Amino acid sequence: MDKKIIVGITGGSGAIYGVRLLEALNEAGVETHLIISEWGEKTIQMETSYTLPEVKKMAAVSYSVKNQAAAISSGSFRVDGMVIAPCSMKTLAGIATGLASDLIARAADVMLKERKKLILLTRESPLNLVHVRNMETVILAGAMVFPPVPAFYNQPKSIDDIVNHTVGRVLDQLDLDPDWVNRWGKQ
Ligand SMILES: Cc1cc2nc3c(=O)[nH]c(=O)nc-3n(C[C@H](O)[C@H](O)[C@H](O)COP(=O)(O)O)c2cc1C
Repeated sequence: MDKKIIVGITGGSGAIYGVRLLEALNEAGVETHLIISEWGEKTIQMETSYTLPEVKKMAAVSYSVKNQAAAISSGSFRVDGMVIAPCSMKTLAGIATGLASDLIARAADVMLKERKKLILLTRESPLNLVHVRNMETVILAGAMVFPPVPAFYNQPKSIDDIVNHTVGRVLDQLDLDPDWVNRWGKQ
């Protein structure tokens, strides 16, 4: 069976991470299930050159963030994991408290209860104690907090290089082993 991954795009800065992740998962033959929050839709429009229909078309299935009746709202739906890229502090807080008030927070809650991979590209700087405590809570519950912090050992020449490096490291976490990641010691 092909891998199935849920991708959430929320209103943290860096919508391009979610878009590039969708492209990379498609290239890797993964079946993608996409949820974009209301503010994720706004940041895609404000920060990228992609239209919403273009981004939604990249996914095998696209859900409304308000649709709590979607298949991915249930642990009975077979999926390999979920990545939220980027993950706002609001969505992080929703996961940490288990509120499940929209489909992104609910699907993430399901990942934790089913002991599936949940990778959060948390985006905020600087961090306050609430952010840090919420990160601690979700890590203790089984999530991976994966801030999209650029590396420079690969000598990035463009924003694309920076985004691709982080997305490649996320694919590593999903055991997809992309051959285009510029790894330390590979040069
Ligand atoms: C252009 C833009 C950039 C933003 N950047 C961030 C950010 O980096 N981190 C964050 O936590 N919130 C950021 N916000 C605020 C969130 O979008 C806001 O808290 C929203 O309610 C998050 O909701 P969501 O998690 O459902 O998408 C940003 C908002 C805008 C419009």
